[in-house]
Amino acid sequence: MTVTVVGTPGDRRVRLFAAACESEPRVVAWTDVLRGAGLGIGPGDVVRIDSPGEDAAADALLRGPGDPARVGGGARWYATFTAGLDRLAATGARLLNDPGEIAVMFDKRRCHALLAAAGVPVPPALPRVTSHAELRERMDAAGVRRVFVKAAHGSSAAGVVALQTAPGGRIRAVTSVAMGPDGPHNSLRVSVYESERDVARLIDVLAPDGLHVEGWMPKASIGGRPLDLRVVVIAGEATHAVVRTSPHPMTNLHLGGARGDLGAVRDALGERGWRRALEVCEAAAACFPRSLMVGVDLLVGVGWRRFAVGEANAFGDLLPGLTGLPGTSAEGLDTYTAQVRAALMGNAQVCTT
Ligand SMILES: Nc1ncnc2c1ncn2[C@@H]1O[C@H](COP(=O)(O)OP(=O)(O)O)[C@@H](O)[C@H]1O
Ligand SMILES: [Mg+2]
Repeated sequence: MTVTVVGTPGDRRVRLFAAACESEPRVVAWTDVLRGAGLGIGPGDVVRIDSPGEDAAADALLRGPGDPARVGGGARWYATFTAGLDRLAATGARLLNDPGEIAVMFDKRRCHALLAAAGVPVPPALPRVTSHAELRERMDAAGVRRVFVKAAHGSSAAGVVALQTAPGGRIRAVTSVAMGPDGPHNSLRVSVYESERDVARLIDVLAPDGLHVEGWMPKASIGGRPLDLRVVVIAGEATHAVVRTSPHPMTNLHLGGARGDLGAVRDALGERGWRRALEVCEAAAACFPRSLMVGVDLLVGVGWRRFAVGEANAFGDLLPGLTGLPGTSAEGLDTYTAQVRAALMGNAQVCTT
């Protein structure tokens, strides 16, 4: 089976996927998809859609020209990205992951609503907010003091704000957004804002591109570091898991998060808790039945009893060197090889559009 992968030629994701394939895959650049260039993809082709991220040229096409680290442009990014997905859907190729489902996973509001409607545990969402003032009103009305505010179309912690308030007007926002002199930009360093004015500026910068707001779930921790799990579900089976621990409320690995000790987490959860954790992730992935792979961010509450899905990631399988859980069909295989095997064995719901 020769596969075409849509991504950024030469980047890590494409190379790792290519290494997992029996024969070298064809690579189609996202920039060509977005520019409307000829793709040479048609019925009979098998296509893996990967991330357009980490490519300044693709970003310029998606959001418009400018500093790739700048904040904002999420709404335009999403409109262009989904138009590109529609183009891929229209090729008639066999797609390993469904463009419509990818589009839902890149809208945190729709993703949350879909999971909630399916009975998958998720943090409670606040009604839609369009400004800082409205956010504060909604938090007061709901009696909620701690929330996660997320740019609706963000990823890699871009536009994520962990916000808490306390009586007496105290407020504290932790975020990867740096409000620098040349405008707000996404940073690898976490910033803290503790004045209402600064937090208002931050939220109002993010709001025009759409916000998803949900309750902040206090996370279980190991060695004083809060953690969550990234669980990769392939063809319906939770096959790969990593623990992400961080000194920050966001556990994303590029923000100072680190892989933690899965054995310690399994011990803390106990056998039943661990099984339940994987079941929740499989239930979340089942909301995307036409996606060969879904990367689930699983929040584990303090006390190790409660779970909630933080989000589902369409491109959440970049976990180099991680092999599948013992006893699963991906045992000993990395995330890419496991997907190639699942697709070859036909147990994947490879979708035809
Ligand atoms: N409701 C929540 N309560 C506690 N922590 C959360 C919540 N939502 C997200 N997080 C943390 O913030 C990080 C980033 O949020 P996420 O929704 O995964 O956005 P991104 O797409 O940027 O990764 C997650 O890795 C998780 O650890
Ligand atoms: Mg995430």
